[in-house]
Amino acid sequence: MSPWSLVYDAYDPQAEGLREALCTLGNGYVCTRGAAPDCDADGVHYPGTYVAGLYDRATSRIAGRDVENEDLVNLPNWLPLTFRIEDGPWVRLDDMEILSFRQELDLKSGMLRRDISLRDHEGRTTLWRERRLVSMDDQHIAAIALEIEPQDWSGRMWVRSCIDGGVINDNVARYRALERRHLETLAKSSPEEDTVFLRSRTRQSRLEIVLAARTRLYRGDARCDGERRACPPVQDRLGHEIAVDMREGEAVAIEKIVALHTSDDRAISEHGLEACAAVKRAPRFEAIARAHVLAWARLWDDFDMSIVAPAIPDADMKLRLHAFHLLQSVSEHSIDRDVGVPARGWHGEAYRGHVFWDELFIFPFLNLRRPVITRALLRYRYRRLGAARRHAAQSGYAGALYPWQSGSDGREETQVIHLNPKSGKWKPDASHRQRHIDAAVAYNVWHYYEVTGDHEFMRDYGAEMILEIARFWSSIAQWNAARGRFDIRGVMGPDEFHTAYPGRPPEEEGGLDNNAYTNVMAAYCLHRALDVVDMLPPARRTRLLERLGISDDDLARFDEISRKLFVPFHDGCIISQFEGYERLDELDWDGLRARHGDIQRLDRILDAEGDDPNRYKASKQADVLMLFYLFSAEELTILFERLGIPFRREWIPANIDYYMARTSHGSTLSHVVHSWVLARADRPAALDHLRRGLDADIADIQGGTTREGIHLGAMAGTVDIVQRCLTGLATQGGILHFDPVLPKGLDRIQAILHYRRHRLHLDIDRKRLTVHSEQTTAPPITIAYRGHYREMSPGDTYAFRLVVRGEG
Ligand code: BGC
Repeated sequence: MSPWSLVYDAYDPQAEGLREALCTLGNGYVCTRGAAPDCDADGVHYPGTYVAGLYDRATSRIAGRDVENEDLVNLPNWLPLTFRIEDGPWVRLDDMEILSFRQELDLKSGMLRRDISLRDHEGRTTLWRERRLVSMDDQHIAAIALEIEPQDWSGRMWVRSCIDGGVINDNVARYRALERRHLETLAKSSPEEDTVFLRSRTRQSRLEIVLAARTRLYRGDARCDGERRACPPVQDRLGHEIAVDMREGEAVAIEKIVALHTSDDRAISEHGLEACAAVKRAPRFEAIARAHVLAWARLWDDFDMSIVAPAIPDADMKLRLHAFHLLQSVSEHSIDRDVGVPARGWHGEAYRGHVFWDELFIFPFLNLRRPVITRALLRYRYRRLGAARRHAAQSGYAGALYPWQSGSDGREETQVIHLNPKSGKWKPDASHRQRHIDAAVAYNVWHYYEVTGDHEFMRDYGAEMILEIARFWSSIAQWNAARGRFDIRGVMGPDEFHTAYPGRPPEEEGGLDNNAYTNVMAAYCLHRALDVVDMLPPARRTRLLERLGISDDDLARFDEISRKLFVPFHDGCIISQFEGYERLDELDWDGLRARHGDIQRLDRILDAEGDDPNRYKASKQADVLMLFYLFSAEELTILFERLGIPFRREWIPANIDYYMARTSHGSTLSHVVHSWVLARADRPAALDHLRRGLDADIADIQGGTTREGIHLGAMAGTVDIVQRCLTGLATQGGILHFDPVLPKGLDRIQAILHYRRHRLHLDIDRKRLTVHSEQTTAPPITIAYRGHYREMSPGDTYAFRLVVRGEG
């Protein structure tokens, strides 16, 4: 494979769903799966189109109760495009003999190509050359250019080009019992002779989506559309059939240019008028493509990185694929919109387009590249601070509690029951108890600030979020007199296999006590809140505290709790995932593996066997180890010191070994964390987890989940391993620290970073770290490598000779 292309050389209906997700095209505003335009949703194909943050709520009757869910809406399909020869059948890939096939996702140009040679039942051969884009330049424009070339026939060809509003949300089999209809068609028309127009509306959120599609045929530069007629009427679907006389060996290009708007768009008068006008003034495909490719070139200038890694096949391509999908999910087009980061991209319907804590794995990559995007995404959280306050109050707490799953208005969207596909049973879902999401929001605000030094953001938005989050932690923490410490009870940590103590059903007395990760993060938030109070300009501080009703006593309580939260340990130096963890049974990992092979989702397996994962020392993903992912050994030592809990950095490897042996990696995020925490202790193992993280979607390591949407956290997280972990990059106290450690099999890293208005070129190999700052007007920064500090002005280049470490 080329370092810039994902290529498939054969058609494989089994893998089509996966490829559709991986070949999704988008621009941060709209994403369309890489589905074949000649096929509808039929079990093999699933042509989904999604606008960032466009949701709709619906109620379903499940297991005797009404269940309300908010879904990312699958929007009208703009792709349908095919042909037929004379009055033969309309061409569908699956009905044809495929003589050759090549599908290429070109990451550099953001273009999807399909080159296919097809033979029909009458033995006629046709070349199908398709290019597709979703414009990164003009967020409302998408286009297909399809060249059809008869190899051994001449005659009349009919082209059929449609838009289809009769779509439902049907991407995720587990959700099929739930309401899947979200759209109604309001109007269909043909505003121009070559254009069709569809107006749809979501049923509950009442957002309008309009599509205008223009289809023209060209032979070279000349239009060659012949007779044109409306497609036979089908409800919610409309389009044109266009005739053209074909000659053997002569290609005809069909150009379908589409404009998509919604009633939520800005800088327009009326979305319907705008879509029609946009498609009318749109140039030909080539001109649209030129602007699109330029927009991508500009992005790659800032987001590309390259590694020499003989131990990771196609390393550069995979890193770029990950950055590519991140930029298709959130981009400059997100900046003016009210959107968060969806856990599964806008690439499919898993998790309904909801926003989780996965931002924690995504923002660091953006912070060092285009922090203005992070700023916009943090504002999604700020706008929902009111909802988070209500959520805290409804749950019996003060301050603000961000929901585990967030959608349109910031209420808790986590479903109350979920289906175990292994057992076919609906089970209560306790994951809303993952209160640690609140700490992730505060951590993200602080880190954005630390990397950028964006005081205005902190003053106007960040401080309020951190203080309200601290207030939540202060109210959930309970004094335990017997212990002389504060407890946090009834929560879940990141490991979703543990929802309650064994034997206790989650709906009765749910959650766990003193999850170590949660408690340390709570202490961190409370401490940060005090820092924030100190750094605010006095007038702003007084006003804010007054407005929030935070008194000196409250601040004193923040301070006290941040020093006295309980963190459980067992076996001397092992941080217990939660209180009582040590009393759980050991799982028979080998036995389970022998019986089931893939045991990543051992929760579902155990549940289907009538057992309960809560009984075992078995985690879905990193939980305690998250602490070593988010904090350096020094930072963690300081946090524990403040808590008055003895903790030695030498204990970290024992903790890693302990939990590694008890984790199934049922979440792709787990590989990111494990690669990170092993990077300095066990470099081969770290590389192995990085490899698995890079393969998570491309090889669909979870066996079927990627077709429902990519895993954005793992995608950004793996790129960030190269960017921050292997380079040893940390931003602390206004200094940019490096401490590279390259595992065997990864020999060089080249990357461009943005830090405090400096554009830095990084080049690292085993011996040398070179940093060059481009010529700009930025004030100097300080960079450091292991106690060697350099003041760096634009134009400077510094090289540090690296301390050679053993090849671990
Ligand atoms: C993981 C969560 C994650 C969510 C969305 C779950 O499988 O356990 O940690 O936030 O997926 O990516």
